[in-house]
Amino acid sequence: PTDQNILITGGAGFIGSHLADALVPDNDVTILDNLSTGSRENVPSKAELLEGDITDSETLATSMSGMDIIYHQAAQVSVQKSVKEPVESFGTNIAPTVQILDHARNHDCRVVLASSCAIYGDPEYIPIDEAHPTTPSSPYGLEKITKDRYARLYHELYGVDTVALRYFNVYGPRQTAGDYSGVISIFNEQAQDNRDITVEGDGQQTRDFVHVHDIVQANLRAGETDAVGEAFNIGTGSSVTIKNLAETIRDVADSSSDVVHVDPREGDISHSEADIEKARTLLGYEPTIELDEGLQSLISPT
Ligand code: UD1
Repeated sequence: PTDQNILITGGAGFIGSHLADALVPDNDVTILDNLSTGSRENVPSKAELLEGDITDSETLATSMSGMDIIYHQAAQVSVQKSVKEPVESFGTNIAPTVQILDHARNHDCRVVLASSCAIYGDPEYIPIDEAHPTTPSSPYGLEKITKDRYARLYHELYGVDTVALRYFNVYGPRQTAGDYSGVISIFNEQAQDNRDITVEGDGQQTRDFVHVHDIVQANLRAGETDAVGEAFNIGTGSSVTIKNLAETIRDVADSSSDVVHVDPREGDISHSEADIEKARTLLGYEPTIELDEGLQSLISPT
């Protein structure tokens, strides 16, 4: 997109801030973020930061005024946390999304929202295409499929330009390691500190890890595509086991950590790998960073 007024909710966070970096040169970018997991340092100087919460409907309404595109990235992002605190997760992930879509219904505004492969639950077949049944195994997955369906419905009922991007497992710079963070950032920190690398369960579960720069690419395309009302898988089309990931990260980090096994997670999905044909065909999306390369540059930047 160029010359657009753009709001990025969650724009101080991991994915949102990379998207802001890509959009600021040619657009007016505003960020709404409560800085709970995001941080001010991530925000490009050319963007305007509104510090506030998406769950405060007045703040959200004010931030959306005059926008051409809203990239809705702010969310409670942890599957595990949604299992522990389902009511809180629901409040963050559902009502604000509907408010954003409803704003777009009344104003000429496009909405691109972050959906997730967690909507598919335990897959019936691999790779997973968009027609795969959606039987989420966590509150988080249920929230994401609800948002995703709302986006389609707002397109069908009211003609709103919506695009839902079903992210697979995103990694890259600025993903912080914490209790509720992505596995690559956690394993990387454990490896750097030569602490045990904690594989949950037998480690045979698989994920399709996609670099944040490719997620940005998909969002930029979604901001301009004619394929509105659609949902797209955004991954790479390849997957690795978590055990294999742990060993690779240990090796790339040249670490003396042991890879140990701890209890499996409740609500965890066993396998995940994207079929990305639809995004290739309709969005022109093509992943550019392979996992080995992405891990190298993350762990031992040259
Ligand atoms: C992640 C995202 C979620 C996204 C989803 C798509 C985060 C916090 N969550 O959830 O927003 O929608 O991908 O699939 O980024 N694991 C370990 N040891 C650890 C941590 C994790 O073995 O110390 C395992 C987990 O049990 C799981 C796998 O690694 O099997 C991935 O976990 P995680 O990075 O939390 O991702 P998802 O739960 O897939």
